[in-house]
Amino acid sequence: MTLFSLLKWGEKILSQTAIENPLLESEILLRAAFNLSKSQLLSRLQDLVQEDSSLFKTYVKSRREGIPLAYITQTTEFGSRTYTVLPGVLIPRPETEWLVQEAISHIEASSHQEWQIIECGFGTGIISIELSKQFPDTPILAWDINPKAYENAIMNAKKHLVPTTIFRQGDFFQQKKTLQSCLSNGKQTVLVCNPPYISDSDYANLESQILDHEPITALKAGPKGIEFYDKLLSFLKPFCLTLICEIGIHQRPPLENMFKTYQNEPARFVKDFHGIYRVFILNKTSDILDNTKSLNATFGDS
Ligand SMILES: C[S@@+](CC[C@H](N)C(=O)[O-])C[C@H]1O[C@@H](n2cnc3c(N)ncnc32)[C@H](O)[C@@H]1O
Repeated sequence: MTLFSLLKWGEKILSQTAIENPLLESEILLRAAFNLSKSQLLSRLQDLVQEDSSLFKTYVKSRREGIPLAYITQTTEFGSRTYTVLPGVLIPRPETEWLVQEAISHIEASSHQEWQIIECGFGTGIISIELSKQFPDTPILAWDINPKAYENAIMNAKKHLVPTTIFRQGDFFQQKKTLQSCLSNGKQTVLVCNPPYISDSDYANLESQILDHEPITALKAGPKGIEFYDKLLSFLKPFCLTLICEIGIHQRPPLENMFKTYQNEPARFVKDFHGIYRVFILNKTSDILDNTKSLNATFGDS
């Protein structure tokens, strides 16, 4: 049997499902099973397969059963890098690149020299790792409530040679003391967050590939879908920082409404190439007059 005949076998099995591009997915699974780059696969397509092909067959069967491709290969592309994705952790979505780009632009366009970055809900770690690669001297501190996400982000930090100390496991809303310390060190702060933002009704209508396999805590926010932003803004009331968040489709109007209750400067919303609002940038003032007099601590202290 050649790699080409395995490729076609995979395509045939996957074409019996709703998968949009069975040939491409068969190729991705074949390359993952045999650990081949695209050019290695192309140059070996007509070679007789010496290795055991059972791993590839298991992969194809898992995919036929609806397991997401990224959980089978345990990898995904984000930006220009390949990241490990563990089952139980949200698979990074390409739209999150808008959030990363906005954070980069915001920091680069500023005349301030000293920045620090905080992330709420890091998942696989993609946002903090991309920002760490872009700004290697900028301290970053990130939390996720999901222990599996912590394990996953540490793997990716090691893979991409960024400090593993960026990542901490825990509920972001329990970190007020640490944040108070961090935010009193005189640096400008960007807080990035791609929160759960799917409403209960939209969640129920998601495709089964997502519903059955991706973590609900990463996706579902509540009846309206904007509850996490509300909780975040309420929690961040004392802090002066720039908040950059990913948002869901059609969430600009309810968010603008919600922002009015927090008396900050108006948020700026950014559209993607399809004209969909994907990100907001909100310069948050503090409702405490002088929070620079609190503990003069740095990121390594909690
Ligand atoms: C939409 S996912 C984003 C993951 C990753 N940043 C990305 O863009 O792919 C939201 C993440 O927030 C985490 N999360 C939810 N509630 C949290 C909380 N209270 N504190 C910290 N992390 C939380 C979830 O575990 C999940 O990993």
